[in-house]
Amino acid sequence: MTPYVLPENSIGWYALAHLSEFVSDRVLTKNLAGQELVLFKTESGDIGVVDAYCKHMGAHIGKGGRVVGECVECPFHGFQFNTKGECVVSGYQTPADPKINSRNWPVKVIQDLVFVFFHPNGDAPSWKPEIPEFGNTTPFKWHSWILNSNVIDIFENTVDLGHFQFVHKYDETYAIDPLALEAHELKTKYGIHREGNFVGAKAVDAEFSLHLQGPGLAVIKAQVSPMDLESYHLILPRPIGNHQIELKIGACMRKIDHPKKLHPLAILLPKAFLNQIVFNILFREFVKDVGMDREIWENKIYVHPPLLSKGDGPILQYRKWAQQFDPALA
Ligand code: FES
Ligand SMILES: [Fe+2]
Repeated sequence: MTPYVLPENSIGWYALAHLSEFVSDRVLTKNLAGQELVLFKTESGDIGVVDAYCKHMGAHIGKGGRVVGECVECPFHGFQFNTKGECVVSGYQTPADPKINSRNWPVKVIQDLVFVFFHPNGDAPSWKPEIPEFGNTTPFKWHSWILNSNVIDIFENTVDLGHFQFVHKYDETYAIDPLALEAHELKTKYGIHREGNFVGAKAVDAEFSLHLQGPGLAVIKAQVSPMDLESYHLILPRPIGNHQIELKIGACMRKIDHPKKLHPLAILLPKAFLNQIVFNILFREFVKDVGMDREIWENKIYVHPPLLSKGDGPILQYRKWAQQFDPALA
């Protein structure tokens, strides 16, 4: 048994920003695996990502840099970089030396989220993240934490069936579909039963369909019976250096079709109001549920191989899959 802290440079697509964060010609600074990056939105609406420190003479482009047309301009001497990170012009309108180019950070925008690909060697991605359209839902709500943890540990939680009883106080957890592993994808489905009041019911039964895409994106569909509620959840961990991650979670709820299944009196409420109050409760529970893992995550070590017992979830299968993102896990 070798307990150790996990490395923090796992290959993956990570959500760095919402499109709504880009305001006028201002740029954003975000950390990805210990590297400062500057994100910008060009006049035509493309998103570019460059190394924060300008190779010309080292200014931080996030501190006073601005968008000019299809480029970001460094505040120190006005050199401009396009969305591929190429320095296309010096501040003196003379051709720039290609040695000043930033690393080319692959970007993919999905709905309102800006994903950036990280590879410790700068290799190009062999896959792209996908988030389906969820249909007629409430708008997304978001919450995030900064944690002393690791992206690999966060998603291991999703297959750790044993911990649900102890950390999340579920009375029953059972696998519905086994793990399906293919390249960067992991899919599974499980069900839970929990006693206790939930939206007027005395107990809750829910089924969760999980779709992990590397260590930076999980898409989860939750179906809650007998109230006929369906919600969609995104789990977005991102390494930010110093053995920390930002864990962002988001959710939306399919608009309620059958208020009667929820409560006999629910049909009396205006639909918009009903959706809003039910989704507020659901989101509050979601944030509370994920928050319950926090103390464990922040204080655990990585034990490999783990000393598993009957009743544990498919931890080893998960770890084998996760090795492709971090060879140090092998
Ligand atoms: S340091 Fe960026 S243009 Fe000189
Ligand atoms: Fe958990």
